[in-house]
Amino acid sequence: MSNVIVMDHPLIQHKVGVIRRIETGTKDFRTIISEIAKLMCYEACRSLKLQDVEIETPICKAVVKELAGKKLAVIPILRAGLGMVDGMLDIIPSAKVGHIGLYRDPETHEPVEYYCKLPEDCAEREIFVVDPMLATGGSAAAAITMLKEHGCRNIHFMCIIAAPEGVEKMQKEHPDVDIYIAALDDHLNENKYIVPGLGDAGDRIFGTK
Ligand code: PRP
Ligand code: URA
Repeated sequence: MSNVIVMDHPLIQHKVGVIRRIETGTKDFRTIISEIAKLMCYEACRSLKLQDVEIETPICKAVVKELAGKKLAVIPILRAGLGMVDGMLDIIPSAKVGHIGLYRDPETHEPVEYYCKLPEDCAEREIFVVDPMLATGGSAAAAITMLKEHGCRNIHFMCIIAAPEGVEKMQKEHPDVDIYIAALDDHLNENKYIVPGLGDAGDRIFGTK
């Protein structure tokens, strides 16, 4: 079963409260989404493995820590996931970035794929899939299936707001993928929007509505 980590850091919680507000405009919404992603990335990187390495300081030889193992990749689910990329890269600047384009069909709410461009060596990388919203879980589960079809195995999923329905779907379909969440909300409404949620993340980041 995947780990579900709800990040209850006060700064994250405060910023989530701001982006939920209907009066928060596009500029602030976009800025704060990026700030939350940065804080979440910092917290999520606690799970990265370290190894000892011998170096020389100006004074003597010393054994220090360095990040071990796999290199990283950040994969946003378009469009809204793009809003989290810069914040992630502030913390892990040498990560490669791939893109998966999916939108929810407005009638069926099923994900429809329209784009996929991944780093060539993505199968060897530790991957953070990012999308601010996990609602039915259809988009995240489909994106992770696509990554697994490309040979990726070491995958984490990071979202800002999740519904229990989406978490359940992810745990069922991808029990190997850890899920990092800033806020676990109550339920989905009849249009499959998260309640209380923040509305349509893509429209609020890009100002399209
Ligand atoms: C939103 C959101 C997720 C998806 C979540 O994207 O950014 O990708 O919905 O819903 P789900 O868990 O039920 O699949 P949307 O399809 O609205 O596309 P957009 O980012 O291009 O606006
Ligand atoms: N996508 C969003 O952007 N918001 C929701 O509440 C659900 C799906």
